[in-house]
Amino acid sequence: MTAIAETTVLSGIRATGRLHFGNFMGAVRHFVTHQQHGNRCMYFIADLHTLTTLRDPEELRGNVIEIVKDYLAAGLNPNDSIIYAQSSIPEISELSLLLSMIQPLGELERIPTFKDLVRKNSDNVTLGLVSYPVLMAADILGPQATLVPVGEDQIPNVELARNMARRFNDRFGTTFAMPETLKEMIKVPGLDGEKMGKSEADNAIDINAPIDVIRKRYLARGITDPQRMRTSDPGDPYNRCRSVYPLHELITPGEADSRTIAKECLAASIGCVECKKRLVDSIAAILEPFQERRAALTKKDDYAREVLHEGGKRARRIIAETVEKVREKMGIIVY
Ligand code: TRP
Ligand code: SF4
Repeated sequence: MTAIAETTVLSGIRATGRLHFGNFMGAVRHFVTHQQHGNRCMYFIADLHTLTTLRDPEELRGNVIEIVKDYLAAGLNPNDSIIYAQSSIPEISELSLLLSMIQPLGELERIPTFKDLVRKNSDNVTLGLVSYPVLMAADILGPQATLVPVGEDQIPNVELARNMARRFNDRFGTTFAMPETLKEMIKVPGLDGEKMGKSEADNAIDINAPIDVIRKRYLARGITDPQRMRTSDPGDPYNRCRSVYPLHELITPGEADSRTIAKECLAASIGCVECKKRLVDSIAAILEPFQERRAALTKKDDYAREVLHEGGKRARRIIAETVEKVREKMGIIVY
């Protein structure tokens, strides 16, 4: 038996595109924090899940490597965290198949995320889309994860993984740890006020974009209080400013903190252009150190692949141990 850390933090990210500021603030930054508290941390790229919607092989391969570089530049340390690609561990797919044998279909069809995906892909509802949460349960239960930080939209999927663990443990004896959801992942507003990266509109801020480009995008497209016509009119930061102010609240610290900005907005002593500029200063304070480290990794694809390879070996040892038990309990023997 290998010693198991008390807490195993696990999370995955789909490789549908490059990371944006919402992923960075909402997820990756927390991944780094967990790494500092003596937890076993497992962070993977859910490349198989990505296949449910992305069908360009070249793009998928590229995204995986770029995301790993983003992870590293954000502060994930491959010695402290196990960083891997889901597809590199065949036992995850095997576990997904085994779990699917005891998973009622009706339960899957009732999950809100499923309904959402079906609506978005109504022309092509694949089996992979239906079994998406089963694969996700395998991601979580295979490494015996105890803490799963996810965004709000993924909570029903983790809930399903908990149901599956319970069902399996009841039927075959305790095998899986019970994963807890960690709802710490904040929702970052995009340029249009919708959740960043979610809306069909191009509302996200690329974490690798030059700060000047980000500034131009905010000045041109960042949603302010639409009823505030002139700078001399007071604005309503709390209810009507749906993009700029809510992001200030999340990221603008110190002297010119968000409360001061709200007061100035209510008193009409700050204009929206100035307010957006201050917001971009806050974004720059967070992204500049990241971008510096990230630039040093631009040509380090081989290193990123090496990180995935080493992480894959470590993850596989952990997951294979669980899957061996599952197989055996279900009556499957490797002849
Ligand atoms: N479905 C998640 C998302 O779209 C990504 C993911 C896949 C995941 N497997 C996971 C997250 C396991 C947490 C744990 O965001
Ligand atoms: Fe929003 Fe700032 Fe304009 Fe107020 S001043 S409406 S908070 S952008």
